[in-house]
Amino acid sequence: MKKLFALLPLAALLSAAQPSPVTPVVPADVQALLDKNGCAACHNISRKLVGPMWTDIAAKKYSVKRISELVKKPEPSNWPGYVPMLAQTTIPKAELTKIATWLSALK
Ligand code: HEC
Repeated sequence: MKKLFALLPLAALLSAAQPSPVTPVVPADVQALLDKNGCAACHNISRKLVGPMWTDIAAKKYSVKRISELVKKPEPSNWPGYVPMLAQTTIPKAELTKIATWLSALK
């Protein structure tokens, strides 16, 4: 019995240590590209800005290729209630691929 009581605070500690749904962290190298290419002005990982949150976009489970297409040629009908995104045509291909790869793997 004594042993059991000794374990209780430990159990409480362990359950408190379980992460509650945490906001995913954007890796620094990806964030740098989002800043550089202006995406961060309209998109955030956990807050709706002009554009949808990254996590909401990720929930659509697009492929890397599809994300890259949509950034260059947005389809505003995918996001009723938002203003249409302007086509992002100046972003270097390698940078877009890196962003799209991160976004497609985001949970
Ligand atoms: C001026 C604001 C603005 C900027 C800058 C911007 N976006 Fe968007 N984005 C939006 C809005 C608004 C939507 C939703 C409406 C739409 O898709 O047209 C959106 C939608 C998206 C989608 C979802 C497309 C779909 O059809 O589901 C992706 C992916 C995306 N943006 C990526 C990017 C990336 C990457 C950049 C930077 C290169 C960027 N956006 C820059 C406003 C912006």
